[in-house]
Amino acid sequence: MELWTIPRRFQVMVMNAVLAIGLLLFLCTSGVDSRKHPKLDWFEYPAISCRSHQASLTDFGGVGDGETSNTKAFQAAIDHLSQFSSDGGSQLYVPPGRWLTGSFNLTSHFTLYLDKDAVLLASQDESEWPVIEPLPSYGRGRDADGGRYSSLIFGTNLTDVVITGANATIDGQGDLWWKKFRNGELKYTRPYLIEIMYSNSIQISNLTLVNSPSWNVHPVYSSNVVAQGLTIRAPVTSPNTDGINPDSCTNTRIEDCYIVSGDDCVAVKSGWDEYGIAFGMPTKQLVIRRLTCISPFSAAIALGSEMSGGIQDVRAEDITAIDTESGVRIKTSVGRGGYVKEIYVRRMTMKTMKWVFWMTGNYGSHPDNNYDPNAIPQIKNINYRDMVAENVTMAARLEGIAGDPFTGICMSNVTIGLTRKPKKLQWNCTEIAGISSGVTPKPCNLLPDQGPGETASCNFPEDSLPIENIEVKMCSWSRKNL
Ligand SMILES: *[C@@H]1O[C@H](CO)[C@@H](O)[C@H](O)[C@H]1NC(C)=O
Ligand SMILES: *[C@@H]1O[C@H](CO)[C@@H](O)[C@H](O)[C@H]1NC(C)=O
Ligand SMILES: *[C@@H]1O[C@H](CO)[C@@H](O)[C@H](O)[C@H]1NC(C)=O
Ligand SMILES: *[C@@H]1O[C@H](CO)[C@@H](O)[C@H](O)[C@H]1NC(C)=O
Ligand SMILES: *[C@@H]1O[C@H](CO)[C@@H](O)[C@H](O)[C@H]1NC(C)=O
Ligand SMILES: *[C@@H]1O[C@H](CO)[C@@H](O)[C@H](O)[C@H]1NC(C)=O
Ligand SMILES: *[C@@H]1O[C@H](CO)[C@@H](O)[C@H](O)[C@H]1NC(C)=O
Repeated sequence: MELWTIPRRFQVMVMNAVLAIGLLLFLCTSGVDSRKHPKLDWFEYPAISCRSHQASLTDFGGVGDGETSNTKAFQAAIDHLSQFSSDGGSQLYVPPGRWLTGSFNLTSHFTLYLDKDAVLLASQDESEWPVIEPLPSYGRGRDADGGRYSSLIFGTNLTDVVITGANATIDGQGDLWWKKFRNGELKYTRPYLIEIMYSNSIQISNLTLVNSPSWNVHPVYSSNVVAQGLTIRAPVTSPNTDGINPDSCTNTRIEDCYIVSGDDCVAVKSGWDEYGIAFGMPTKQLVIRRLTCISPFSAAIALGSEMSGGIQDVRAEDITAIDTESGVRIKTSVGRGGYVKEIYVRRMTMKTMKWVFWMTGNYGSHPDNNYDPNAIPQIKNINYRDMVAENVTMAARLEGIAGDPFTGICMSNVTIGLTRKPKKLQWNCTEIAGISSGVTPKPCNLLPDQGPGETASCNFPEDSLPIENIEVKMCSWSRKNL
């Protein structure tokens, strides 16, 4: 068959194929590089946004030997990449290795991606940690008056930030900080591992955080925050190693996290006494789901004690707590002001608990003596349903404030199995009001049983919050590694 009798479209296809094969043959047989077998580093990961520009920490002098400080390399890389904030954003890759570093600052439209075999080691040298102002809603540092050490990974006034990896490790090397804290040797408040302030659109996912000097993940004054797939571990006796602390944040989702720590696994906050009241920024629209917690001396989820800006609309579901002091705990005090309201908890499984329910109205712990004794917190509409607990010492300790009872407490379909040596008094209730249905052992008289028909009374909201509808895209990293 003559060439011109073949349809035109087919001719073009054949010619393109010939050209492509020729080009491939040319590439494979020419140049020095081909003999070194160029390797294409390539991987994909889910994120709220993908990036147009990229770099590796090693491009900026990073050394992953576990001994060389990479603080300057991190800051140089991120300072360089910050120029792309308004040009498609950027991603910084941290290759396999042990990367010692002090505190560094993030930028907007930026992804920090840790290779699965990368370990960030937090420096134990205080000079690697800049001292920053106390949080305005706290008025002072929590460990000491005045400033605080900036977090290992710190960001403020940012938008669209992703911190992720394929379960890579960030090791806070906290033992030295814990010792200094216990010996009263700290000049400033201990650093956290990750803190993001005054920011919007944040994803922190698929990382393993171990031995933080203090709190692990602290989003504060921020909105649209997703914390997903985090494994957080610290000795159960380590001081203040809270897992994730959403603080004066709107629209936050915490899911698929496994936390073993020396303090609350999740601690929901919003500022401290007169400072928190003046700042006036609540935490609201918070989803916590599929959390597993081990914390023998603290709560699976704590609301407070710093709640002076208010806590509203928290939805916790599918929570497992093992060998944990209490379940979803409320901590507050006269002087805090603020509120904790519209709290919904369902499908919680607990094993070996000191208290399933614990509310405390006299937590104390004030920043200074200038708190307002008339600033009484409002605690209302607290709903628990579909909970099973076993090996429990005491079902509930519910202590409201005299003249300021905690109201609208609702408990339904709760089955609590006791330890071999349970407390005689299973429900100790003071200054509270509410109802119950289908709860064993039988609740206190302040939570009168409504009968089996009323299990729907502690309903969990049917609608979804905006943060539940955030879509992730598959992003990729690829680079020829000669
Ligand atoms: C990081 O940001 C904080 C607050 O803006 C600042 O005090 C600190 O010096 C910055 N650190 C670096 C290394 O630029
Ligand atoms: C960050 O945002 C806060 C709140 O809008 C503002 O008060 C502060 O000055 C900003 N800081 C910087 C460094 O831009
Ligand atoms: C992440 O690593 C931790 C160990 O640090 C492990 O326990 C956990 O199962 C890992 N998670 C995933 C999703 O691979
Ligand atoms: C985290 O890792 C898991 C398991 O590898 C994966 O299915 C998930 O999409 C990842 N999520 C994010 C947000 O990185
Ligand atoms: C009671 O709670 C258990 C445990 O979550 C659940 O399996 C069961 O379906 C619930 N019963 C009702 C009537 O909702
Ligand atoms: C039950 O709880 C007690 C503490 O009250 C603990 O010592 C014991 O190991 C637990 N038993 C089981 C089977 O988990
Ligand atoms: C019950 O709680 C109150 C505080 O609200 C406390 O004073 C009292 O000692 C408790 N009773 C028992 C038997 O634990």
